[in-house]
Amino acid sequence: MNPAVVKALAWMLLAVPGLWMLWSFSQGEVLAMDMLHPSGEMSIRLMILAMLPGPLSDFFGSNRFFRAWLAIRRNLGVAAFGYALLHLAFYILDMRSVAAMLDELGLPGIWTGWLALALMIPPAAISFNLAMRRLGRNWKKVQRLVYLALIIGLVHWVLLDWAWQPALVHLAPLMIAWILRLIGRGRRNRRQRSMA
Ligand code: HEM
Repeated sequence: MNPAVVKALAWMLLAVPGLWMLWSFSQGEVLAMDMLHPSGEMSIRLMILAMLPGPLSDFFGSNRFFRAWLAIRRNLGVAAFGYALLHLAFYILDMRSVAAMLDELGLPGIWTGWLALALMIPPAAISFNLAMRRLGRNWKKVQRLVYLALIIGLVHWVLLDWAWQPALVHLAPLMIAWILRLIGRGRRNRRQRSMA
């Protein structure tokens, strides 16, 4: 399929949950507070989905499926940032005043959310082609901030829920993919040494 079509389809699919959240809220079916969980969770899930194809295609080898997944990796990352902004918008609507937001800024469960969002800004800001070309090797370095954003986003989740399980369940596929990548690299290195 044409890459432009794949990307357009990806944008449409990625927008559906957000539009549903906004629609339900605008109809008064749910409160802003009820949308904090789905918007925050969606942001984390999309970040993870953006991080998975690299290590998985490293281990299993390149094929059409992984190439298509890799091609929409940036869309997934930008959408993760979009859902984090939506999450913030619901938080602001829920809190209703700057004073109330400042009041709870010192809570670990809250400042970790702000920090995770702040760390997502530079990678999202340079996610377009021109920035990629201009920054060259530095582009990847800035993109690495998303790993930190993910970890802090997960800590934010643990601190709010006082439970490790949901965050760990989300982190598990990524841990498995990273372990597979290490196994793959180890195998390749051994093969190269034995051929030398
Ligand atoms: C902009 C700063 C942020 C603030 C002020 C904030 C605040 C909050 C609040 C008040 C909740 C609801 C807790 C409850 O259920 O009572 C929440 C939930 C959540 N947030 Fe954030 N958040 C922020 C950024 C983020 C970011 C950037 C992410 C993802 C990377 C994130 C992920 C989550 C998740 C997954 C939940 C669901 C926790 C749960 O209810 O089970 N948050 N956040």
